Amino acid sequence: MKLADNKATMSFSNGSPSVELPVYSGSVGPDVIDIRKLYGQTGMFTYDPGFLSTAACQSAITYIDGDKGELLYRGYPIEQLATNCDFMETCHLLLYGNLPDAAGKAVFTKRVTQHTMVNEQMQFFLRGFRRDAHPMAIMTGLVGALSAFYHDSTDINNPGHRDISAIRLIAKLPTLVAMAYKYSIGQPFMYPKNELSYAGNFLHMMFATPCEPYVVNPVIERALDRIFILHADHEQNASTSTVRLCGSSGTNPFAAIAAGVACLWGPAHGGANEACLNMLEEIQASGGVSKVGEFMEKVKDKNSGVKLMGFGHRVYKNYDPRAKLMQETCNEVLAALGLENDPLFQLAKALEKIALEDEYFVSRKLYPNVDFYSGIVQRAIGIPVKLFTGIFALARTVGWIAQLNEMIGDPEYKIGRPRQLFTGSLPRAVLDISKR
Ligand code: ACO
Repeated sequence: MKLADNKATMSFSNGSPSVELPVYSGSVGPDVIDIRKLYGQTGMFTYDPGFLSTAACQSAITYIDGDKGELLYRGYPIEQLATNCDFMETCHLLLYGNLPDAAGKAVFTKRVTQHTMVNEQMQFFLRGFRRDAHPMAIMTGLVGALSAFYHDSTDINNPGHRDISAIRLIAKLPTLVAMAYKYSIGQPFMYPKNELSYAGNFLHMMFATPCEPYVVNPVIERALDRIFILHADHEQNASTSTVRLCGSSGTNPFAAIAAGVACLWGPAHGGANEACLNMLEEIQASGGVSKVGEFMEKVKDKNSGVKLMGFGHRVYKNYDPRAKLMQETCNEVLAALGLENDPLFQLAKALEKIALEDEYFVSRKLYPNVDFYSGIVQRAIGIPVKLFTGIFALARTVGWIAQLNEMIGDPEYKIGRPRQLFTGSLPRAVLDISKR
């Protein structure tokens, strides 16, 4: 970041002296006002719940222009990455800042595939969960537990440890998600098959059994790879900020990523794809497309508490570019599987059409987000709804770890410690219990 020509002056109506604050520019996007010395100079904090106007770090990884509907990983538009690259190239890009050439890609892919197995003891840990546990409950536990199994990669201040933990996390997340699934349906765990692609191997671990050969469908493999690319990073969203905040205390990378998994679980974040598919299934069960109008009235009624899941985004106030790509993939997968007339897909399209024309959604700039179509694709592939957020966590792991490593390497990084505006009781004396 560099100092802008501009400076900000903050003045106060009570006659307190005004303060001058430096302004910094990034390479693109809004400038930032540096308020680090504000408390020292004025005795005041700033107030910004939900971080609507606060840049908590500088980052060179992902850039979003919400008004234009633009998403760039290290400068490359998501449309080009999703069309011309695969997930391994995208991981390399996010972690190291550049797209690999063929030799670099081969080396990186080999490194990842060499770490796809998990310590055999982990399955006994997994077996402690109830069979009907939510996969995200299991994932939070398993990812955190990696720190108990890989002691040689837990020192966040050691660059070698950070590097190997990044590779391990990217390599092992698909294995853990597939193990959580196999456990829930009572099937044997399938060991990774390293001759397959990253997405192909995940499909194998999910859907193969030891009884018969499993052939990966290339359309589904490509669709899953695209889901991974589209979810790989999204700048300082809730789970990424959680990973940064958690990691800022110096905790180990596995613990920090487990915190990200926990945050992602929420329905306002990664859990939205599960919530979106549940919503579509409920409308379908209540009468399908004919009930769309009635449902939309509920969504627009503030007292109903009903939201159109898969719609709206904190940053995109234009179309989410990932939603467009996901809709394309949705068409491809449903056609390849002969499911073009899938009722949920028809329902989703009917909801989208109404919403895009309705004044309520138009005036609030609410558009479909990536989750609106990703659930339909995953369901068509055969992934159970409860596992959707686990797939998201798998894909986002590379983004989390890239952001965590960027933070540790930033000379300006400090433990995260937000302030508060205290509105509670002034000091008071504890009365004896008989007098309260
Ligand atoms: N359905 C109906 N109304 C909505 C929706 C929705 N999905 N989203 C926002 N609104 C309304 C709000 O009620 C509010 O209306 P008001 O101004 O009359 O009070 C207005 O639009 C602005 O909404 P906010 O909640 O202030 O927007 P915010 O940026 O805080 O929230 C969020 C964004 C959380 C994503 C929200 O749009 C939402 O809950 N969407 C549904 C869940 C979802 O799909 N989440 C996925 C996010 S993408 C991801 O994590 C991959």
